[in-house]
Amino acid sequence: MQELSMHILDIVQNSLAAGATLVEIRIRESLAEDILMIEVQDNGRGIPQEVLNRVMDPFFTSRITRETGLGLSLLKEATELSGGCLKVQSEEGRGTRVMACFQLDHFDRAPLGDMGETVGVIISGNPAVDFFYEHQVDGQIYVLDTREMRNILGPIKLEDPLVLDFVRQDIQTGLKKIGAATFPKVMEVLR
Ligand SMILES: Nc1ncnc2c1ncn2[C@@H]1O[C@H](COP(=O)(O)OP(=O)(O)OP(=O)(O)O)[C@@H](O)[C@H]1O
Ligand SMILES: [Mg+2]
Repeated sequence: MQELSMHILDIVQNSLAAGATLVEIRIRESLAEDILMIEVQDNGRGIPQEVLNRVMDPFFTSRITRETGLGLSLLKEATELSGGCLKVQSEEGRGTRVMACFQLDHFDRAPLGDMGETVGVIISGNPAVDFFYEHQVDGQIYVLDTREMRNILGPIKLEDPLVLDFVRQDIQTGLKKIGAATFPKVMEVLR
């Protein structure tokens, strides 16, 4: 089972391949509704309508290096395992929004994984692109925005290793503070 952070990395790679200059990652957890939603929105080139219907098909890809595209179909499978679903909305020339929902406490809901490491690597590996990450847990919120970070950092660049350390730690402590769910609760009991 792939961690959700690895799926997010995959989806963000699609956004980057589509020439996005801004990628927004939003995660919302609600214990009351027993739901976990992941949304990745970009301002890349978008997906033509005739292609949009087939993007979740494992045998569809616009890659030329191999014949299958797995990112979206694997994420779809992960959502369906936990009684959730995947939606892809896109407008050519404007951007794409991928929305994945999961039953938060489902036994087969994949663990969140290390969002600090993942977002840190995404940011430091793509210093020309801006990223916004928002994580909400029942009204509590953690936010990180590279546009703000650029202002504060001044001459220090986003690819600086110090920035990777900062992002990793800031997210890890931030998520702990808001009580982000890593594993489904039922799994925490079994561990
Ligand atoms: N954010 C996006 N912007 C524009 N096109 C996208 C986006 N996400 C997916 N696509 C289109 O959907 C196709 C399928 O995406 P998917 O991630 O499933 O496979 P892939 O990226 O082709 O291959 P893999 O993820 O296995 O490396 C892509 O080839 C691309 O044409
Ligand atoms: Mg992909």
